Amino acid sequence: MENHSKKVALITGANKGLGLEIARQLAQQGVAVVLGARQGKAEEPAAALRGQGLDARAVELDVTNDADIAALPGFLQDTFGRLDILINNAGVQLDTGFETSPDTLRQTYEANVIGPYAITQALLPLLHQAPAGRIVNQSSILGSLATISAGQGGSWATPGYTSSKAALNMLTVVLAQHLADSPIKVNAAHPGWVKTDLGGAGAPLDVREGARTAVRLALLPADGPTGGYFHNEEQLPW
Ligand SMILES: NC(=O)c1ccc[n+]([C@@H]2O[C@H](COP(=O)([O-])OP(=O)(O)OC[C@H]3O[C@@H](n4cnc5c(N)ncnc54)[C@H](OP(=O)(O)O)[C@@H]3O)[C@@H](O)[C@H]2O)c1
Repeated sequence: MENHSKKVALITGANKGLGLEIARQLAQQGVAVVLGARQGKAEEPAAALRGQGLDARAVELDVTNDADIAALPGFLQDTFGRLDILINNAGVQLDTGFETSPDTLRQTYEANVIGPYAITQALLPLLHQAPAGRIVNQSSILGSLATISAGQGGSWATPGYTSSKAALNMLTVVLAQHLADSPIKVNAAHPGWVKTDLGGAGAPLDVREGARTAVRLALLPADGPTGGYFHNEEQLPW
């Protein structure tokens, strides 16, 4: 095990898009970042970050794979002896209309809800040992009941994606309340509508701007919020 005085962050779905940019920005702020991705896809981007002088490494992590998740605590303990920040960023949007099949709903929940839940559960013991544990759940404004019920979701308001992010929001609140007497803070992030494979080319924000909310929540000071839902500094309605 290395002697690690730096904070350590695990970011899921970090081979591209928002996850990779969150990793880059955290590393630029002196955090040792672990890029989680499936099928060995994090190796190349982690090497690219190291090429920029940043402290980055890759871990095999399909968020729907029990064995990958079970291996995480041992890997982090053996490599760093700590974990300070968990960013549950990996996510899928598999439905495009209202005719979402039960199978599609199931796959969406596996990646967007059950994966983050299982990873958080597995890593809580390490986060409890950290002086300032932070958990950020990458949600979406489309998970806001207030927003969708006001008719503001447009054609993006599909059954699978929206309800999975609403479920992730509730997990955020439940966990934050459970951890209220600990230093760990748990918040949900809406990155904005961001140009990525998921967000599409028509989105107004680039990943640099989109990563900002999750990075801020990952580095919150001791008097920062917990159990909240944010875009940048703005608190969003559940
Ligand atoms: N872009 C937006 O406008 C926007 C808005 C609101 C919220 N979000 C949220 O932001 C997060 C990141 O999305 P993005 O916009 O950066 O999209 P993206 O570029 O498509 O990235 C999604 C990431 O999630 C990973 N992923 C999906 N299923 C996975 C699994 N089972 N195991 C491990 N990794 C998995 C993908 O890996 P692969 O390459 O292997 O598929 C990829 O790294 C998502 O949770 C999304 O819902 C995005």
